[in-house]
Amino acid sequence: MKIHTQTFLAVVAASPAIAGFDSWTPPGPYDVRAPCPMLNTLANHGFLPHDGKDIDKETTETALFEALNINKTLGGFLFDFAITTNPKPNSTTFSLNDLGNHNVLEHDASLSRSDAFYGSALTFNQTVFDETQSYWTNEVINIEMAAHARVARIKTSQATNPTYSLSNLGSEFSFGESVAYVVLLGDKVSGTANRSWVQFFFEHERLPLHLGWHKPDSLFQEEDLFGWMDVMRNITQNETDAAPAVRLLRGRSHFGW
Ligand code: HEM
Ligand SMILES: *[C@@H]1O[C@H](CO)[C@@H](O)[C@H](O)[C@H]1NC(C)=O
Ligand SMILES: *[C@@H]1O[C@H](CO)[C@@H](O)[C@H](O)[C@H]1NC(C)=O
Ligand SMILES: *[C@@H]1O[C@H](CO)[C@@H](O)[C@H](O)[C@H]1NC(C)=O
Ligand SMILES: *[C@@H]1O[C@H](CO)[C@@H](O)[C@H](O)[C@H]1NC(C)=O
Ligand SMILES: *[C@@H]1O[C@H](CO)[C@@H](O)[C@H](O)[C@H]1NC(C)=O
Ligand SMILES: *[C@@H]1O[C@H](CO)[C@@H](O)[C@H](O)[C@H]1NC(C)=O
Repeated sequence: MKIHTQTFLAVVAASPAIAGFDSWTPPGPYDVRAPCPMLNTLANHGFLPHDGKDIDKETTETALFEALNINKTLGGFLFDFAITTNPKPNSTTFSLNDLGNHNVLEHDASLSRSDAFYGSALTFNQTVFDETQSYWTNEVINIEMAAHARVARIKTSQATNPTYSLSNLGSEFSFGESVAYVVLLGDKVSGTANRSWVQFFFEHERLPLHLGWHKPDSLFQEEDLFGWMDVMRNITQNETDAAPAVRLLRGRSHFGW
C-alpha cells in the first residue's frame, strides 16, 4: 500500500493532477458554486467541471461514484432533481449556481448558509455554521447530534426570518443533507463521523484526505441514505413539529424520474 502510494505520488509530481483526490484548487472569478458544500468540493477537486457550469447526468453520476462511491442510479436520481433548478426549460444540464435558486431545492434553515432573506445562500456563513457545530458535542458526531443541529437551525430561522419557509421537499432534502455529511464523511454502518473531518469539509470545501478520510470502501446505496433519514426523522419527531413526517423521496429512484 505504501509503495503504491509513493509510486502514485511520483507520477503526480511528474505530471500534476488536474482532477482527483490529489488535486484541489479554489474557485476562480469565473467559476460558479452551489449552496451544496459537497458539489463545490467535487468541483474544487475537478471531479465535476471546475467552472461549475453545464453539468450533465453522466458527469454527475461519474463524479459521485469516483469520489464517494455513490451508486450511479442514486447519483442520477439526485441529478434529476438538480436539473429542475435550471431556469431554462427542458435542459439536460445544470450549473452549480442554479442550485441556489430559492425554494426549488435551496431552502431556509441551512447548516452553513444564511437564509436567502439575509443574503447569499450560496456562500459559507460562519455565524450559521457556528450554531450548527455547537451541537456536535463530541469528537465523534452521531446521527442524534446531526438531528439536533438541524432542528436548532430550523427553530432559529423560524424565530428570526419573517419570510421563513420549509416545504416538504425542502425538509426531505434537509434530512438527506444532514445524514449525508455524517455517513459519507464518516461511517454509514455506525452513522458516525470524525468531527474534525466534517468541520474541515464545510470550512474548506475540500475532502479531508490529509486528516485520514478516504473514499468509502463499499458502494453507497439509496437504502443507506433513506434508512438513516428514517432514523433522523424519528429522533426529530419528538422535538419539533417543523419536520413533516413525509417520505417523499424513498422509492422514487426506481422510477428514474
Ligand atoms: C447531484 C447531487 C447533489 C445535489 C443536486 C445536491 C444539492 C444540494 C442543494 C440544492 C443544497 C442546498 C440546500 C440548502 O438550502 O441548504 C445542498 C446542500 C447540502 N448538500 Fe448537497 N447535493 C448533492 C450531493 C450531495 C452529496 C453527495 C453530499 C454529501 C455529503 C451533499 C451534502 C450536502 C450538505 C451537507 C448540504 C447542507 C449544506 C447546508 O445546509 O449548509 N450533497 N445540496
Ligand atoms: C444501484 O441502486 C439501484 C437502485 O437502488 C439498484 O437497483 C442497483 O442494484 C444498485 N447497483 C448496484 C451495483 O448495487
Ligand atoms: C419542452 O418540452 C415540452 C414537452 O416535451 C415541449 O412541449 C416544449 O415545447 C419544450 N420547450 C422548449 C422550450 O423546448
Ligand atoms: C450570516 O448569517 C447571519 C445569520 O443569519 C446574518 O445575520 C449575517 O448577515 C450573515 N452574514 C453574511 C455575510 O451574509
Ligand atoms: C479524528 O481525526 C483526527 C485527525 O484530524 C485524529 O487525530 C483523531 O484521532 C480522529 N478521531 C477519532 C475519534 O477517530
Ligand atoms: C421510526 O418510528 C416508527 C414508529 O415508532 C417505527 O415503527 C420505526 O421502526 C422507526 N424507524 C426507525 C428507522 O427507527
Ligand atoms: C418518541 O416518543 C414516543 C412516544 O412518546 C416514544 O415511544 C419514542 O420512544 C420516542 N422516540 C425517541 C427517539 O425518543
